[in-house]
Amino acid sequence: MSKAILTGISSICLIPMTVMIAMAGHFTGSASSYLVWSLGLGVPLVFVGGGVFLWHWKKDRHNLKQELTKKTEALRKSEEKYRSLVESTEDFIFTINERGHLLSLNSFTANFFGGTPSQFIGQPLSILFSEEVAKQQLELVRLVFEFGKSVRSEFVVTTREHETWLSTNFMPLRDEQEKVKSVLCIARDITENKKLENQLVSAEKMASMGTLAAGVAHEINNPLGVILGFIDLLLEKFDKDNQDYQDLKTIERHSLHCKEVVENLLSFARQGEGASEYCDIYDAIHEIVGVVKHSLDMNHIELRLNLIPGLPKVKGDARQMQQVFLNLINNAAGAMEGGGLLEMGVSFNTNQDKVCIVVRDNGHGIKEEHMERIFDPFFTTKREGEGTGLGLFVSHGIVTKYEGTITCESSTEDTPQKPRGTTVTVTLKPKEKD
Ligand SMILES: Nc1ncnc2c1ncn2[C@@H]1O[C@H](COP(=O)(O)OP(=O)(O)O)[C@@H](O)[C@H]1O
Ligand SMILES: [Mg+2]
Repeated sequence: MSKAILTGISSICLIPMTVMIAMAGHFTGSASSYLVWSLGLGVPLVFVGGGVFLWHWKKDRHNLKQELTKKTEALRKSEEKYRSLVESTEDFIFTINERGHLLSLNSFTANFFGGTPSQFIGQPLSILFSEEVAKQQLELVRLVFEFGKSVRSEFVVTTREHETWLSTNFMPLRDEQEKVKSVLCIARDITENKKLENQLVSAEKMASMGTLAAGVAHEINNPLGVILGFIDLLLEKFDKDNQDYQDLKTIERHSLHCKEVVENLLSFARQGEGASEYCDIYDAIHEIVGVVKHSLDMNHIELRLNLIPGLPKVKGDARQMQQVFLNLINNAAGAMEGGGLLEMGVSFNTNQDKVCIVVRDNGHGIKEEHMERIFDPFFTTKREGEGTGLGLFVSHGIVTKYEGTITCESSTEDTPQKPRGTTVTVTLKPKEKD
């Protein structure tokens, strides 16, 4: 390019130079020959100077252009990097103006609220959040504008019947004059932490309820013994055909039922006193069945037990194993609203050297898409307050701790070719093997 310019300039200069020198030759010796000589040299020099200047100017402009392109590219790359950072994060990121309208938001936020960023930009905060939450957030945004400091808060957001806890940080964004021009919000989903927190609180509650139940059972046990003792004494005073005798027998029957419930509660509570290394499955299931039998009856659930006495003891703490069976029974009962059949069987598989416990129900079953999540912590399909989603997770933890396995098979009304219901199989290591 610059070469072409130079060639151009030199050819432009050469023509007047040749003409001037020719004319100088013609006027040699005269005064005007000096003028022609100086013109002959001066004009080309001006052209050459101008050409060199033009060349430099062009070169500088070219370099500047290149520099600008490089800088713009670097800026574009850096902007792209930050944009992809903001876009790929699984946090809620959005900016708000003083009027509480959305200036920008990342795709994660837009997706979460069921739309695209362009659908929400320019809209008030209440398009994402409930009126109440939006009002609280606007108050915080106002504080940021007023005091120019970050504020943090937690909110509950309800979308598609799901509650999500958000921990939100509102930060000021300033212009060149350091004036707050908008507010940046970064929020994180803390629902799992909240659930865990609540779970810990309810675990504490359960533990104290257990102690309370054991205390109450103990208190009731003594007067019950006295009542039964006096019934015995009174029964001796009446003839069997007497109506009073029959009435006393009814009182005795109900008192014995109370005693049975209380004894089950007591034995269940007593297990917590020290973890055992081995567990008699037969006893463990019998005890747990004693605790739940009444409530199963009330819910019209028939219980069929297939227990063989004399099975080898298995590796595991008896109380924890009872917790596993209680979870499985509760899940089965929960799936058979209005009644059903619950079967529990224990067998010893000599080939595999394992004790197998099978809990089968004919309830509504587990949907295929839920199957791989049932052992996840907090996975529940039950209504708020009815399920914690920890039953199978905890059971899985206990069973695997003692080198056992827990598996599940299920079919729902979507698979009519198979009988509807759920079967959970637990296998445990027998004592002899250790
Ligand atoms: N026997 C069963 N029948 C039908 N669904 C079941 C059964 N056992 C477990 N489930 C499903 O697995 C989920 C997780 O069970 P679990 O961990 O015990 O938690 P939770 O009972 O608190 O929901 C349940 O919400 C339910 O959807
Ligand atoms: Mg459960």
